[in-house]
Amino acid sequence: MRIAVLGGDGFVGWPTVLHLSAQGHEVHIIDNLSRRWIDTELGVQSLTPMDSIQERCRIWKEVSGQVLNFHLLNLATEYERLRVWLAEYRPDAIIHFAEQRAAPYSMKTDRHKVYTVNNNINATHNLLAALVETGIDAHLVHLGTMGVYGYSTVGAAIPEGYLDVKIDTPTGERGLEILYPTRPGSVYHMTKSLDQILFQFYAQNDGLRITDLHQGIVWGTHTDQTRRHVQLINRFDYDGDYGTVLNRFLIQAAIDYPLTVHGTGGQTRAFIHIQDSVRCIELALADAPKRGDRVKIFNQMTETHRVRDLAQLVAGLTGARVAYLPNPRKEADENELVVKNDQFLGLGLQPITLAEGLLSEVVDVARKYAHRIDRSRVPAVSAWTKDIANRVVHDPEGKKLRSVS
Ligand SMILES: NC(=O)c1ccc[n+]([C@@H]2O[C@H](COP(=O)([O-])OP(=O)(O)OC[C@H]3O[C@@H](n4cnc5c(N)ncnc54)[C@H](O)[C@@H]3O)[C@@H](O)[C@H]2O)c1
Repeated sequence: MRIAVLGGDGFVGWPTVLHLSAQGHEVHIIDNLSRRWIDTELGVQSLTPMDSIQERCRIWKEVSGQVLNFHLLNLATEYERLRVWLAEYRPDAIIHFAEQRAAPYSMKTDRHKVYTVNNNINATHNLLAALVETGIDAHLVHLGTMGVYGYSTVGAAIPEGYLDVKIDTPTGERGLEILYPTRPGSVYHMTKSLDQILFQFYAQNDGLRITDLHQGIVWGTHTDQTRRHVQLINRFDYDGDYGTVLNRFLIQAAIDYPLTVHGTGGQTRAFIHIQDSVRCIELALADAPKRGDRVKIFNQMTETHRVRDLAQLVAGLTGARVAYLPNPRKEADENELVVKNDQFLGLGLQPITLAEGLLSEVVDVARKYAHRIDRSRVPAVSAWTKDIANRVVHDPEGKKLRSVS
């Protein structure tokens, strides 16, 4: 297949590009490299040394013999170029990762809120409008998030995207299937919730074939392909805005920094290893909806854990201390999370569990590159409201926190 990977220079995008290329697909990366610019804005860098996208593509050709094509394009602001590109290349499938994806970054200031909404909503809508205009029947696979469901305890398993409800009508009770009600916990999660409505409309109005993957928090670094050459290594974010919780615990342990648990650490979250994430995308591609079908929604996660239990797990492996800090987010202190993921398991996914993969991440990645970590960028600084900001003032080592940009 000819596959366009939008956001193919990112943390999940890059290993997906390599995975699909290794399977013989013709892969085109579209990315505006905004994520690299945000690193510069925040004064951080990936824990792992990342080469330019052009260099990464060159190395992959050397290693695999396969060509990767890179196109520098901003999906949110360059609608005409996107439409022309689609009309010229006519991809069979499109995988859409190209959004601003950090909840803390989206809550940093009003400017970051506006940027996140403009970038994410326009990127998604431009793509949908251009697909309709060009008449290209590509299967669109979008990376959404488990966070659209919200993190309140519901007392039942969260279904895969849709909920059966009963409504009272004058002629009696009637059954209805609706999108599971969204409850976003940040501006970032709000954009993913809005994406869902855009998809619902374009699937029903124009017959676009769309799969939306509600992904859990991705952990880990390597996949089978990124291991093939040191310069193919994946990015690894550790800072307070972009670092995901488990990856942050790993680097904190590696530099003898307390594991930063926010609030009671009773928040339960869904997780998936990066290798499983790219496998799920492969499975979703092979299971495309037909024209006229509703949007296909999968829960792309493999296990759930409470944050404080994860901290204890990493502390047990490494001897690190755990620090309980004021929570910069506005969220429930404790929540249950039970999630259905039967569809991917039914398609053959065999999950990598935390228990089997964690130790090698600590040793092969976090300790190996620990010298590249700037301790001052480790604490989470972005607060959800001005009141909360007044409470989040010190890092676990007692230093005053300062926000960047
Ligand atoms: N990483 C996770 O734990 C996680 C969890 C759930 C869902 N997701 C979703 O998966 C997707 C990929 O996540 P990631 O961790 O790889 O993020 P990332 O920030 O590492 O990668 C996103 C890529 O998209 C590019 N991009 C952003 N806006 C763009 C635009 N307007 N035009 C062109 N390119 C643009 C960025 O430069 C970057 O390379 C995101 O949509 C995210 O919401 C990620």
